[in-house]
Amino acid sequence: MKNLVDRLRCRRTLTVEEYKQLLLCRDAEVTDYLHRQAREETFARFGNKIFIRGLIEITNRCRNNCYYCGIRKSNSRITRYELTQEEILECCREGYRLGFRTFVLQGGEMPDIKDEWMENIVACIRRSFPECAITLSLGEKSYGTYERFFRAGANRYLLRHETCNTQHYRKLHPADMSLAYRLQCLDWLKEIGYQVGTGIMVGSPYQNIHHLVEDILFIERFRPEMIGLGPFIPHHDTSFAAFAPGNAGLCLKLISIFRLMLPAALIPATTALATLAPDEREQGILAGANVVMPNLSPQKRRADYSLYDNKAFAGAEAAEGLRELKERLERIGYEVSGERGDYENGKRKV
Ligand code: 5AD
Repeated sequence: MKNLVDRLRCRRTLTVEEYKQLLLCRDAEVTDYLHRQAREETFARFGNKIFIRGLIEITNRCRNNCYYCGIRKSNSRITRYELTQEEILECCREGYRLGFRTFVLQGGEMPDIKDEWMENIVACIRRSFPECAITLSLGEKSYGTYERFFRAGANRYLLRHETCNTQHYRKLHPADMSLAYRLQCLDWLKEIGYQVGTGIMVGSPYQNIHHLVEDILFIERFRPEMIGLGPFIPHHDTSFAAFAPGNAGLCLKLISIFRLMLPAALIPATTALATLAPDEREQGILAGANVVMPNLSPQKRRADYSLYDNKAFAGAEAAEGLRELKERLERIGYEVSGERGDYENGKRKV
């Protein structure tokens, strides 16, 4: 089995059967070997530096009704909020002071009439923080809107495809959403010039090994600059409340596989992973992740951005807890980078 890991590292690809074998393998020695190879690959490009992104959750209003998500439109049991432009700018100022050089503006899907408001905010952050990267994570929009945000100064966009299998997609999302449109959005984002991130929830309801291999093949083909992987975690006010959370070990394996496949990719040790157990963040880094995204939202709003139960937003998952994060990283031999951390240092991919 170790020869599969060697082949993946050397050729950057495996066959469908080989991916399956690697995902199903329960041999701890092989898994350790996989993580070690991925870690070496990360170290060769990035040294022991971990990039940090300040995550600003700008609104928990959402027009969608994804079955897994706590901020889905029909959840009437949360307090909805939307930050003002001034509050968002204040988060950026605080983040800048703490050393962040990337701001990630994430939110539920807003109606199209909000596009202009958003465009203004992006332009304003661009003017106020010229050397910082602006990442958006605002869901599906039209080509024209993505283009406006890009022209206003956004550099990167995160849009997980969640699953690449049409039937599985249907189990996770109501009929008014479509996988085809989501994939179209990803192509548009790339075409416009964003550094693009995609990814999945690991262990989402009804997901099986075949789906995971399809996701691996999609990511291999699409070649995103960023790959976000976190375990599915149930939210008590959704129809998936009774499902079990995803498996951390499987997440870690996928992080390593993607690192060996796309060595220059930016791969976060996600909040969902750290929510399963605090030291899973470090395990993610030791499996080949090289990004952490602490929460920079106003503290009084954080509990309302409840994508899933017990979502971590304190300590090392909080911007103001950067010291704790640094200490935790130091213990495993890593440091926080002061750089903004663009894909291949800003060079466009060939
Ligand atoms: N568990 C884990 N991740 C979730 N997300 C949404 N709901 C959940 C959940 N219950 C993730 C989705 C989305 C990202 C912003 O949060 O993958 O793309």
